Amino acid sequence: MNPTEPNTPFLTTRREFLKTSTKAVAGAALVSAISRPGYTAESNTIQIALIGCGGRGTGAAADALSDKSGPIKLVAMADVFADRLKGSYAEIKKNFKDQVDVPEDRQFVGFDAYKKAMDCLKPGDIAIFATPPGFRWVHFTYAIEKGLNVFMEKPVTVDGPTTRKMLKLAEDAKAKNLKVGVGLMCRHSTARAELLQRIKDGQMGDILLLRAYRMHGPVGSAFTSPKTENDKMSELLWQIQHFHSFLWASGGCYSDFYIHHIDECCWMKDAWPIKAQAIAGRHYRGDCIDQNMDNYSVEYTFADGAKLFLEGRTMTGCHEEFASLAHGSKGSAIISNNGHYPAPCRIFKGQNFVDQDVVWKFPGNEPNPYRTEWNHLIDAIRNDKPYNEVVRGATASLVTSMGRMAAHTGEIITYDQILNSTHEFAPAIQDFTMTSAAPVLADAKGLYPIPQPGKVTDREY
Ligand SMILES: NC(=O)c1ccc[n+]([C@@H]2O[C@H](COP(=O)([O-])OP(=O)(O)OC[C@H]3O[C@@H](n4cnc5c(N)ncnc54)[C@H](O)[C@@H]3O)[C@@H](O)[C@H]2O)c1
Repeated sequence: MNPTEPNTPFLTTRREFLKTSTKAVAGAALVSAISRPGYTAESNTIQIALIGCGGRGTGAAADALSDKSGPIKLVAMADVFADRLKGSYAEIKKNFKDQVDVPEDRQFVGFDAYKKAMDCLKPGDIAIFATPPGFRWVHFTYAIEKGLNVFMEKPVTVDGPTTRKMLKLAEDAKAKNLKVGVGLMCRHSTARAELLQRIKDGQMGDILLLRAYRMHGPVGSAFTSPKTENDKMSELLWQIQHFHSFLWASGGCYSDFYIHHIDECCWMKDAWPIKAQAIAGRHYRGDCIDQNMDNYSVEYTFADGAKLFLEGRTMTGCHEEFASLAHGSKGSAIISNNGHYPAPCRIFKGQNFVDQDVVWKFPGNEPNPYRTEWNHLIDAIRNDKPYNEVVRGATASLVTSMGRMAAHTGEIITYDQILNSTHEFAPAIQDFTMTSAAPVLADAKGLYPIPQPGKVTDREY
């Protein structure tokens, strides 16, 4: 695949629409020739199964049930922890009483729970994947087999080998006319879409530099103290509970926290970077035993020589920043600031980001993109529009892994190197049971393998 292929925005201008509509008509004819699974005008209730009932899964189910385009209900839930499932069920039921029909015999716990939950759906319904991303390709494989539409959270892969699997699965899903959304919700941001259009119209000249910052104190499960006697669960379940700490489960804090910034910058550049070099370090670790660095400074290079600099730091007491910024030959722009939404997109005539230089600013607040991404997916299902965000989501996940591998090895890593890398972090993941061994194990001192830039250079640990 061409790493610099354009990143199609969800909104097109009328001009672009007219240019592509002839091709689209031909494409639509082809799609309608493929049978449309499940959903019909006669049976228009969309059923949902939630797989991974944590914070985001609960939020994604709520976003789905908030769509007003037609009947939609939650009918099955799956998790590896019963208490997570129960808590999520109670929360969703409280807010969407009549749209939740998940009796105990459709609440499933265990590593095969995903299959049982998807077995409750009919072709054309939607499976939501909000487990740690290491499991994504396993769950997606089964959804395709069952003819289900899917919403999967970001990241969608954690390493090169699983990205290759995901790209193949994207094609299988397309061949079955399945609709698949990926939770890179910034791609559904109205403000960013208008900014992109203005960049394409030349308002900022050529984009030469992008800068992304995600710097804050410890969040999520990225920093983990040693397992204690009180942690009665198995090593595997304990690692899953602390998934930001283990690269096999999440891609680490780098993949989980930085992917949105990397992806939105690449969207504005309308290209994917071809290589990365980076520095990273572990400073104040205390007794933490996770596999993360606590700061990352990454230089991504695009084919035209333009750069994306990413600064990621998870440390208390330091300057904090959460932003993506673009610099062009004729001006600069804010892509995001102080969170993912509302995006305060604006263009400046100079490079200084000062109020008096603002030449365009997105008016008001944009709609919540966590809701908009669902409106787009459900619209595609109800109206049988081609919809598959997997290649984009897998490429964003891969490019994220490219920067992480550069930081963890101390090497320059190219797009082709990360794509073709042979280090699969969790090769037995599809066969996990409650008694399986974990993919990484601690040594006698309770320490897990960590990246050693310059010492271990052909793999990340
Ligand atoms: N788009 C966003 O802005 C956004 C925000 C937060 C999280 N996320 C993504 O959502 C995913 C989940 O994150 P979270 O914060 O909700 O984590 P979480 O720990 O709160 O939830 C994950 C849930 O998945 C369950 N689980 C783990 N392995 C499972 C398996 N094999 N089968 C079934 N259930 C399993 C866990 O027990 C847990 O309940 C991650 O990929 C994360 O990056 C996206």
